[in-house]
Amino acid sequence: MLEGNWTGASTVPSRGLYPHQWSWDSAFIAIGLRHLSPLRAQTELETLLAAQWGDGRVPHIVFNPSVPLDAYFPSPDFWRSSTAGRPAGAPRTVQTSGIVQPPVHALAAWLVHRADPGLSRARGFLARVYPRLAAWHRYLLHRRDLGGGGLASVVHPWEQGMDNSPAWDLPLSRVTPAPARSFRRADLDHGAAEDRPTDLDYGRYVRLATDYRDGGYRDGPGGSRGVGTGGFAVEDPSFNALLVASEHALARIAAELGAPGTARHARAERLTAALVERLWDPKSGMFLCRDLRAPAPDGRGTLIPERGVSGLIPLLLPGLPRDIVRTLLGTVSGPHFGLGTTTRLVPSHDLLGEAFDPHRYWRGPAWFNTAWLVERGLRTHAEHRQADALRESVLDLAEATDFAEYVDPYTGEACGATGFSWTAALALDLLHSDTTVTADMGFMGGNRR
Ligand code: SER
Repeated sequence: MLEGNWTGASTVPSRGLYPHQWSWDSAFIAIGLRHLSPLRAQTELETLLAAQWGDGRVPHIVFNPSVPLDAYFPSPDFWRSSTAGRPAGAPRTVQTSGIVQPPVHALAAWLVHRADPGLSRARGFLARVYPRLAAWHRYLLHRRDLGGGGLASVVHPWEQGMDNSPAWDLPLSRVTPAPARSFRRADLDHGAAEDRPTDLDYGRYVRLATDYRDGGYRDGPGGSRGVGTGGFAVEDPSFNALLVASEHALARIAAELGAPGTARHARAERLTAALVERLWDPKSGMFLCRDLRAPAPDGRGTLIPERGVSGLIPLLLPGLPRDIVRTLLGTVSGPHFGLGTTTRLVPSHDLLGEAFDPHRYWRGPAWFNTAWLVERGLRTHAEHRQADALRESVLDLAEATDFAEYVDPYTGEACGATGFSWTAALALDLLHSDTTVTADMGFMGGNRR
């Protein structure tokens, strides 16, 4: 699968539906690829980072110029990165989108390095990627702290990665959709309409991306923050938990390169505290998203009352307060997510929520990357029995569905694309992974060797 989706310098998420390079896909792919070819895993990340913008952002898509324009929408002529993105430092030669995706990259770089430290050192892999990863985190922590509370915000549902989550319904309801006739979706050529977002959702995605582009991809006042009442700005638990995990990884990378990583570890701990302070909801027993555009008297926005799998991903963090870990573990196996009781893989959305749909994009079906993250989280907190069961389910379902993009969480029936790279990569990683990780080191391991 991973051989077939390799294009020479990176891997496509799937041949039909996603024919370019995607940012968080590449990070997950590299994590699996390191077991097959550490060199290709390094190259995967380096190719992505070569398309980084001057302001530090890592674009969510790097376009392959040999793929026809109409194979994927929105195409390079929509994003116009090399012109509209110039003020933000978009590269001149390669075409990219102008939004981002979750920062899994430093974590991936560290895991890739550890797969073959000799090759990594010989190629100067960490030394080359470190400045780019540090600039990427700086961008997120400074330009994207739209709420002023220390967390990074996303300005488009595609940035958070769980595009069509019911958590976005409320913030998206304030966005005027672009007219359906103003664009042509390419995704429906490859996926069943009932597995994909609706035309109305697409109209809103297009409006937000158009406004961001037309504002020169500027962030902060006058940019994404100032796009009238149509703006979208959300603090998301999974995005920020991955940033914390990646900050810890960056600290380990710095130490490996001979610089002290202490300041970074401390920053990751502060971010963890901000995550708890701003997004933990004791009533729901999990983390929720904060809608910064919702009118609220204190200007902090409001928590969105939807339970999505995103709110379980902070389980990944070894530094989470113990009582929160205990509550989260209860929520994972409780009636809203049913892991180990009613579901085979963690659903993307609350089983009891009104919006739950077992087949539609991010509104209920189970994804393999979130299952991998929850498995790693369970391991981190020594919940080995549950982690073993989840690992088995990932491996069984990946194989049985021919590496589906996502599955019905109850039946395991395949949805979306087949031959999906991160499904293969993360199954491969679980086949090879250490099942004895402990909370003090987390699944990233230490830098002592
Ligand atoms: N995931 C989005 C899509 O379906 C955008 O990255 O195209």
